[in-house]
Amino acid sequence: MLPTLLLGALLPFSLASPIARDVNSIVASINTIESNIATLNSTLNTFNKGDLDSGLKVLKIQSQTNTLGDSIDSGTSTAQASEPLNADDSFTVASAVLTLQPQVISLLDNIEQHKPAFDAAILNLVSVTPQVEQDLKNQNASTAAFSDAVVAKLADPYPSLAGTVTGPIFSKFNEAIALFSNAGGVIALPPLPI
Ligand SMILES: *[C@@H]1O[C@H](CO)[C@@H](O)[C@H](O)[C@H]1NC(C)=O
Ligand SMILES: *[C@@H]1O[C@H](CO)[C@@H](O)[C@H](O)[C@H]1NC(C)=O
Repeated sequence: MLPTLLLGALLPFSLASPIARDVNSIVASINTIESNIATLNSTLNTFNKGDLDSGLKVLKIQSQTNTLGDSIDSGTSTAQASEPLNADDSFTVASAVLTLQPQVISLLDNIEQHKPAFDAAILNLVSVTPQVEQDLKNQNASTAAFSDAVVAKLADPYPSLAGTVTGPIFSKFNEAIALFSNAGGVIALPPLPI
């Protein structure tokens, strides 16, 4: 009898605990996204027009871009699976998103700066810019899904403030996608189905 009573007494606490895990797992996904942004950004910084090994660097950039995209999509699933967040947890998540925003914009800025290298990625001749344009469109869509999923779980007043944070991100994506819609280079490789 006693164990049953104890179990009954403990149950409400164990049912309450997923809420604490939700905020932690959303913040953990944001941290993973930030770390993947930093990795991709560092690789971009080693990539210059005319590099002899630029084909290899393009493959590395592509692979790290895929990893970043997967981490954004995984953050979306995590947020979708979460309970609605209370005021304190919403503040914690909103603060993490505020830190993420300038990093996304900085990465997009750095991608734009490297357009000449993408335009002449292989043998100074072949442009992989259409691939970058496709990646940017995919990441834009993933970012929109992620932000919708997170905002849906935030308590007031954060949902009404979300546009202020996401607006500059989507403006930057639109700018970068427009820039990369001009393939450049002598020969432009079409986007690969990856
Ligand atoms: C990306 O690299 C540039 C050039 O070093 C740097 O200014 C910028 O802060 C970096 N951004 C991120 C998100 O790491
Ligand atoms: C990027 O995503 C935003 C938000 O969903 C959307 O409004 C915009 O049209 C997208 N941009 C491009 C170029 O696909």
